[in-house]
Amino acid sequence: MAELENDLFLRALMREPVSRTPMWIMRQAGRYLPEYRATRAEAGDFMSLCRNPELACEVTMQPLRRYALDAAILFSDILTVPDAMGLGLYFVTGEGPKFERPVRTADAIRSLEVPDVEKELGYVFEAVRTIRRELDGKVPLIGFAGSPFTCGTYMVEGGSSREFPTIKGLAKEAPEVLDQLMDTVAETTTEYLNAQIDAGAQAVQIFDTWGAALEPDDFRRFSLASMQKIVDKLTREKDGRRVPVILFTKGAGPLLADLAETGCDALGVDWTTDLADARKYVGDKVALQGNLDPATLRESPEAIREGVARTLASYGKGPGHVFNLGHGITPDIDPDNVSVLVDAVHELSPQYHSK
Ligand code: CP3
Repeated sequence: MAELENDLFLRALMREPVSRTPMWIMRQAGRYLPEYRATRAEAGDFMSLCRNPELACEVTMQPLRRYALDAAILFSDILTVPDAMGLGLYFVTGEGPKFERPVRTADAIRSLEVPDVEKELGYVFEAVRTIRRELDGKVPLIGFAGSPFTCGTYMVEGGSSREFPTIKGLAKEAPEVLDQLMDTVAETTTEYLNAQIDAGAQAVQIFDTWGAALEPDDFRRFSLASMQKIVDKLTREKDGRRVPVILFTKGAGPLLADLAETGCDALGVDWTTDLADARKYVGDKVALQGNLDPATLRESPEAIREGVARTLASYGKGPGHVFNLGHGITPDIDPDNVSVLVDAVHELSPQYHSK
């Protein structure tokens, strides 16, 4: 396998000196790109796209052809894991993900098993190998999974939810049952991420979109503890290089301090916390990734540049920053505005680095 031509992203995650701030964009492959919509139409539907390694590779590469990004992210979805556990994932246009067989009762949770990851999710590992070949060492490839709690919300509620009534009910009325669900998903996710790393993922991110919807003590018991179990068992070195782990709990705020204790390498930060405050919460334990509000991309080029300037200034000088949005890019964004964003990070960030 060729040496990496651009390893800024991996170096920033290790808090090593870099010449400018590296960047990627959460959901960088997606519906805001017309070429993505064309490939998805070719595949037929979203899950067929995920299950086809050649097409998953194609959409992974699309944003890199347009923009000077410093990392690729595997094209897949966090809900492939519960799907592999037998819940039957499907997507209804306009309504988001749904499960044919949600797990709502203690009995259903007790009978869940860790699936044969190679057999059920082999298409993901094949996509990772295909993407690595296509990248040919240009930039690193990020693998990912959902946090057990975030996957759990979809598994228990049966789809997207605003209030999380069923899983919050379990947290209060049957916490041991929810512990068990978290354990089974954590074990599956550990095997899943290690297999992605085996196949060639050079960093991994755990998306904890909904953990911070819990009260802090419940966040620690269910979401943080289950991510901790994963971090403890991940492969951390491959081909002589560290495989960094990024935890992204949306809305974590002061809980970033707890997340920094897990032994992860970096934390994702959303736009509701200033990076300057985030740095105070975590000290020099971990790198930080974020955190421009994705809504900024709807504004003028000047406003986008100002947003980038503010984000870089908020982190301040020194290593350990990976530029990103504070959450995924939305389908309504003009792809030209993303060029403005990328150019601004390239132009404005070198002054924050001494190397
Ligand atoms: O970042 C990337 O480019 C990698 C691909 C990626 C997708 N989903 C592709 C996708 C990643 C990392 C995800 C993560 C994911 N999936 C999360 C966590 C991150 C977050 O954004 O909070 C969650 C909660 C999901 C579950 C999920 N998948 C939802 C709620 C939806 C529907 C969203 C919608 O707007 O309809 C999906 C579908 C999905 N996953 C799409 C994409 C590009 C859109 C599908 C389509 O083409 O119609």
